[in-house]
Amino acid sequence: MKVNIQNNFSVSKIVIGCMRMNEWNLNVEQRVEFVEWCIEQGITTFDHADIYGSNHHNEELFGEVLELKPQLREKIEIISKCSICVPSKENPTIKTRYFNSDSEYIINQVNKSLEKLKSSYIDILLIHMHDLLVNPKELNDTFLQLKEEGKVRYFGLSNHNPLEFDTLQKYSDVKFVTHQFMLNPLGIENYKNGTMTHCLKEGIHPMFWSPLAGGRIFNPKNAFEENMRNVLEGIRKELHLEEIDEVIYKWLLKHPSDPVIVLGTGNRQRIKRALHSLEGVQMTREQWYKILTEAGYKFW
Ligand SMILES: NC(=O)c1ccc[n+]([C@@H]2O[C@H](COP(=O)([O-])OP(=O)(O)OC[C@H]3O[C@@H](n4cnc5c(N)ncnc54)[C@H](OP(=O)(O)O)[C@@H]3O)[C@@H](O)[C@H]2O)c1
Repeated sequence: MKVNIQNNFSVSKIVIGCMRMNEWNLNVEQRVEFVEWCIEQGITTFDHADIYGSNHHNEELFGEVLELKPQLREKIEIISKCSICVPSKENPTIKTRYFNSDSEYIINQVNKSLEKLKSSYIDILLIHMHDLLVNPKELNDTFLQLKEEGKVRYFGLSNHNPLEFDTLQKYSDVKFVTHQFMLNPLGIENYKNGTMTHCLKEGIHPMFWSPLAGGRIFNPKNAFEENMRNVLEGIRKELHLEEIDEVIYKWLLKHPSDPVIVLGTGNRQRIKRALHSLEGVQMTREQWYKILTEAGYKFW
């Protein structure tokens, strides 16, 4: 299933997040086979960032797939991100985490990502985290240059609050096509701070990262998490679903902004359950609000 992002450009409703790809222990042939399997399932979009993987090498792992099978490139969409500067082997001079949206930095990072991904273009580039020192006009010039050079097709933001988003959009000649941020039943900050409503205002499809709270939902560590696990389990039984991940995906997808989910798993059975959650029984409003309320949303 696809979501139309802009001008007939679509991404798959379920996206494969590649942040943990280095943990999947797949050799290059297995990675090729995995990407081909995803495409067969209708999952064509892969989410990257310059900093994913130990020593920032997950884009390289994916690039090896495209090097071996370049014909796969036209069948998929690649998202990548930059702006987070963290200490790493690649950047040994960095001692403290900080954010950078300067033109020279962004262009350099995009060039490095393209080299690692073995691709001449990125479909969607996201500014990974808001840079409090951002110069919106300079960022606009950077985006226009990257578009003009054919290196990036579309642009968006990640982890910005509505005011930060609006401020950058105001100075941008390109309309941001998406906003990627965290949302799951253990983390509803983006409902509380208006970011979800802002997506409706902007007419954009949000992309939710860590939909399963990074796996924490399966191993509750405190009373709040334990309670949420029980609430989800109760709704799972009511809906006759196999696992609570499907309950969560149905909860995430019910929002009218027609969101996209960025999965963190490489496990095919779990990916199939995510696809299954797109169909079949719908969660009732009452079940949906029950999860939101138990997650800590206060109406009055
Ligand atoms: N824009 C941003 O700032 C940002 C930040 C973080 C992440 N992201 C993107 O979002 C993607 C997803 O994030 P995430 O990895 O945190 O997603 P997630 O789906 O919340 O967590 C994935 C983790 O949950 C585990 N898991 C899944 N189903 C499970 C089950 N039934 N039982 C037990 N464990 C289970 C997975 O283990 P298995 O692998 O064993 O299934 C994996 O370790 C990332 O890959 C990245 O592309 C973006």
